[in-house]
Amino acid sequence: MTEQVNDVLKCTTLAKSFDEGPQELQVLKDVNLLVSPSERIAIVGASGSGKTTLLQLLAGLDQPTSGEVLVCGHNLANMKDREQNRLRNQHLGFVYQFHHLLPEFTALENVSMPLLLRKGESLAAIRQQAGQMLELVGMSHRMKHKPAELSGGERQRVAIARALVTQPDLVFMDEPTGNLDPNTASRVHELMTRLSNELTTSFIVVTHDMAFAEQMDRTYLLQGGCLLQS
Ligand SMILES: Nc1ncnc2c1ncn2[C@@H]1O[C@H](COP(=O)(O)OP(=O)(O)OP(=O)(O)O)[C@@H](O)[C@H]1O
Ligand SMILES: [Mg+2]
Repeated sequence: MTEQVNDVLKCTTLAKSFDEGPQELQVLKDVNLLVSPSERIAIVGASGSGKTTLLQLLAGLDQPTSGEVLVCGHNLANMKDREQNRLRNQHLGFVYQFHHLLPEFTALENVSMPLLLRKGESLAAIRQQAGQMLELVGMSHRMKHKPAELSGGERQRVAIARALVTQPDLVFMDEPTGNLDPNTASRVHELMTRLSNELTTSFIVVTHDMAFAEQMDRTYLLQGGCLLQS
């Protein structure tokens, strides 16, 4: 079933437990969240509180124990893997806590990858868009470097460029500025604000950086398996 709604993301009564032998570990108990176009949301919380688990569920990269996730009106539970993959490629971007770049490819090739998977565009056009996005994150001088030849913060910026290059409706970021100096972190923040204004991109960002969180539209604390607005 597809609902005709404008919400980019809606999750209701989301819960997630992991089987830990005789006892189960309930990480998320009752998470509810509604995200509109161009909204920028921060999620903070202690280490181990379930922030990464939550992002995985919201992006359909893991299944909840109960509850529902709707991305652009599509209920993830009702979709086959292939449909979910297409939905992710068309609507979502993901910056992982650990960058997950492909080691054998250059920065430019890594950023080109989501566009190549979409098909239909010339290689020259794809390279141009990937190059522009790398320039926006201040990485145009390292386009031909492979991940192992980049610093931690540089890898993170390549991963951010890769998540944004498809101009997704919603971008998940797990600690995007953890490895970045304040100057580069504020550049990432400016880029987010610009995309949110110009392309109505929404962002859900997990961060320990309170200064970064305070610049977002809303901040939530994940505690005791629930999201509390702060
Ligand atoms: N696949 C799994 N199996 C069992 N337990 C898991 C699994 N994944 C996560 N957990 C547990 O769930 C809890 C939440 O993990 P999660 O990675 O979501 O925390 P986090 O809030 O992202 O922490 P951090 O800030 O350190 O990244 C942790 O206690 C972790 O041990
Ligand atoms: Mg985490």
